[in-house]
Amino acid sequence: MKCTRCRASAEINLRSHHAAFCRPCFILHFQRQVERTIKRLDMIAPDESVLVAVSGGKDSLALWDVLIAQGYQTSGLYLDLGIGQYSAHSREKVERFATAHNIPLRVVTLAEEAVSVPTAAQFTNRVPCAACGLMKRHFFDQYALEGGFKVLATGHNLDDEAARLLGNVLHWQTEYLAREKPVLQPTHPRFVRKVRPLYRLSDLETAFSAFFRGIDYVVDECPNSAKATQLTYKDTLNALEAKMPGTKLSFVQEFLRSAQPLFVAPDGSAPRDCEVCGMPSFAPVCSFCRLVQEVERKQEQRQTSLNPQPTPSTDAAALES
Ligand code: AMP
Ligand code: FES
Ligand code: ZN
Repeated sequence: MKCTRCRASAEINLRSHHAAFCRPCFILHFQRQVERTIKRLDMIAPDESVLVAVSGGKDSLALWDVLIAQGYQTSGLYLDLGIGQYSAHSREKVERFATAHNIPLRVVTLAEEAVSVPTAAQFTNRVPCAACGLMKRHFFDQYALEGGFKVLATGHNLDDEAARLLGNVLHWQTEYLAREKPVLQPTHPRFVRKVRPLYRLSDLETAFSAFFRGIDYVVDECPNSAKATQLTYKDTLNALEAKMPGTKLSFVQEFLRSAQPLFVAPDGSAPRDCEVCGMPSFAPVCSFCRLVQEVERKQEQRQTSLNPQPTPSTDAAALES
């Protein structure tokens, strides 16, 4: 198999693109795809500094790597979710990457700032991924605002986008479909633009990019993701892709081109400031702060049931003896 660009021996065959690439040409292909996506959708202006949400996985580190290579001003944001060894390993990878590139990185430990994902899930009877998603969204917004960034980039890739789209279509989640875009403009002055520059690049492409660029990323998946429905959607799409290469890309692209504009986000009332954290919220207290309050309340209840306060009668008995 020969490289489509230079005719050298190819190392990767992209059936969906009817192309094969050698290592240097693939790196070029990947960087050009990202740059083209950013420019075509006006994701990031040349003078804007970008907050990159990095999980330690291949996608977000490959994204950070490309943005640095393209000369964007970047800072990293890593949320330590408190998920045992998985969080410890991913934090290490992100910190090492930031140090090697001499780029600022903000590390936020959820257990210190609020509650860890396992604690939130345990005390609120939510699946960990639901609590995790809610807290990630909050901290992405909060730290982008605090750092004065106008844009936040995440490493969602084509497989993530296609799986999310399939899930939303299967359940006709029209409100979500209305917001399912690779560029989300802020709906409030305290929100920032959210961009997904890898949305057209597959899992395979980001994995090869990270590998060819020598990026050391965390290979283990989050232990909670095994049960996630997203994985079932991804498996289904992969089965379709194996039979019909290009299915995932056309599913997402055609949705964005012809169907997405038909879905309209409900007008709703304007958000107000959360009474606790000040971030925009439709309720007096935002869903993140309600989650934290619920955990704190239940932790207190548990503490009280483990160490019951002496009842007045016991008190009296104790005084008499
Ligand atoms: P996920 O929601 O795990 O599929 O991750 C999607 C994107 O969210 C990643 O590509 C990252 O950009 C970002 N992200 C996920 N986990 C973290 C984390 N712990 N800290 C910072 N960013 C994250
Ligand atoms: Fe959020 Fe696994 S990364 S629960
Ligand atoms: Zn709040």
